[in-house]
Amino acid sequence: MYCPMHSVPSKSYIYSPIHPSFFILLDIFISLLFSLTLHFSRCYIASLSTMNALAATNRNFQRAARILGLDFKLEKSLLIPFREIKVECTIPKDDGSLVSYVGFRIQHDNARGPMKGGIRYHPEVDPDEVNALAQLMTWKTAVANIPYGGAKGGIGCNPRDLSINELERLTRVFTQKIHDLIGVQRDVPAPDMGTNSQTMAWILDEYSKFHGHSPAVVTGKPIALGGSLGREAATGLGVIFATEALFAEYGKSIAGHTFVIQGFGNVGTWAAKSIYERGGKVIALSDISGAIKNPNGIDIPALIKHRDNNGTLKDFSGADAMDPNELLVHECDVLMPCALGGVLNKDNAADVKAKFIIEAANHPTDPDADEILSKKGVIILPDIYANAGGVTVSYFEWVQNIQGFMWDEEKVNGELKKYMTNAFQDIKKMCKTHNCDLRMGAFSLGLNRVAHATLLRGWEA
Ligand SMILES: NC(=O)c1ccc[n+]([C@@H]2O[C@H](COP(=O)([O-])OP(=O)(O)OC[C@H]3O[C@@H](n4cnc5c(N)ncnc54)[C@H](O)[C@@H]3O)[C@@H](O)[C@H]2O)c1
Repeated sequence: MYCPMHSVPSKSYIYSPIHPSFFILLDIFISLLFSLTLHFSRCYIASLSTMNALAATNRNFQRAARILGLDFKLEKSLLIPFREIKVECTIPKDDGSLVSYVGFRIQHDNARGPMKGGIRYHPEVDPDEVNALAQLMTWKTAVANIPYGGAKGGIGCNPRDLSINELERLTRVFTQKIHDLIGVQRDVPAPDMGTNSQTMAWILDEYSKFHGHSPAVVTGKPIALGGSLGREAATGLGVIFATEALFAEYGKSIAGHTFVIQGFGNVGTWAAKSIYERGGKVIALSDISGAIKNPNGIDIPALIKHRDNNGTLKDFSGADAMDPNELLVHECDVLMPCALGGVLNKDNAADVKAKFIIEAANHPTDPDADEILSKKGVIILPDIYANAGGVTVSYFEWVQNIQGFMWDEEKVNGELKKYMTNAFQDIKKMCKTHNCDLRMGAFSLGLNRVAHATLLRGWEA
């Protein structure tokens, strides 16, 4: 029976009187229906990775719901977003002409607390993608066990085509349109693709005109406006704490193991630096400018200096150039995709030689690759947990703003380690109870926590 006293309860959760085989058939039917719907009604989805993100999120959700034996009505209620906001944002350009954009905020679920998620500025932002990402935030905040729901937003624009003044006007207009639907206890945005701490500063300023000084309305702010120490490193460092928690299961530590990293931006750089500091060897690494390798381990601080001075990995004297296509199938202990979605797929999964994959990027492994890699016995630490360090420290930022008290970096990192380690232990319990892999352990953990909170709140009679 479902036991509301436990955050990771025993096997039967949301009691359903229907035989499990019914759900398996239903699962197949829903998957078919979903594929058809995808095919006929979502052909306009621009990028493959978007489609992968959407398909993978729904597939994982449905599988976790089956594992939990979730009541179908509750499942439906959890899948439908709480609120979808779509607003027109018209601004004068610097030359005086008018330009209009569409802004979105999808608020997926608030059963466990205020909704939380990034705002991205990207030409391909569309409601389906934002929807999938908002849903993913609901499960991610629940896995991390922080008191938030999930949301995501964005504006369909190319930020590189806009001047800094135009970006500020656009951000302020967007904030004016949604200010009464976000808020410290409602929905707390953060930076995402194409936005940064400056964007958050503009949102904070515009929101405060309507509601008074409210630093906790956004996270990922500049430190001078109430941002948290340690936020910049948080996702990469969280990835390392997650890896350490996983390795502890196998009696391993980072020291002495070999790592391959795709992506040397925010997440990849902090992850690589932390591996280096712990005595691990990053033997191959890539970014958009190319890939490099050194079987003895790359000197990461020297590489960061080289990249910062030259803007590229090319011509780094401490490593040899390599084919970027070979990077993901390079011999190593641990592969860390820290860049794009869908990079592990049916074309390369069979050739992957890593024993562990740590999904620092969102959706790096598509469903085909997931199956192939699992059959090969590769252990995959899923994105929904592995990269949750960023949103966890965002939560600490919000807490500090509400407390009006700034933590030092040591406290931030110490708390981050605690949250990442505890989340891993909770995922492991789910894996053990349901005899499932880490991805399903994480999804079922998140889904169960949200379902539990939803049931406790109840519905209007
Ligand atoms: N930054 C965060 O707090 C955070 C939180 C959760 C998840 N993530 C996810 O982590 C991933 C990376 O985010 P980030 O913030 O580091 O982004 P970023 O923009 O700072 O860095 C991306 C890196 O990927 C590289 N890259 C782009 N195309 C590439 C290619 N074809 N081959 C190799 N490298 C390529 C870029 O050169 C860059 O080094 C994304 O999937 C993001 O959604 C980030």
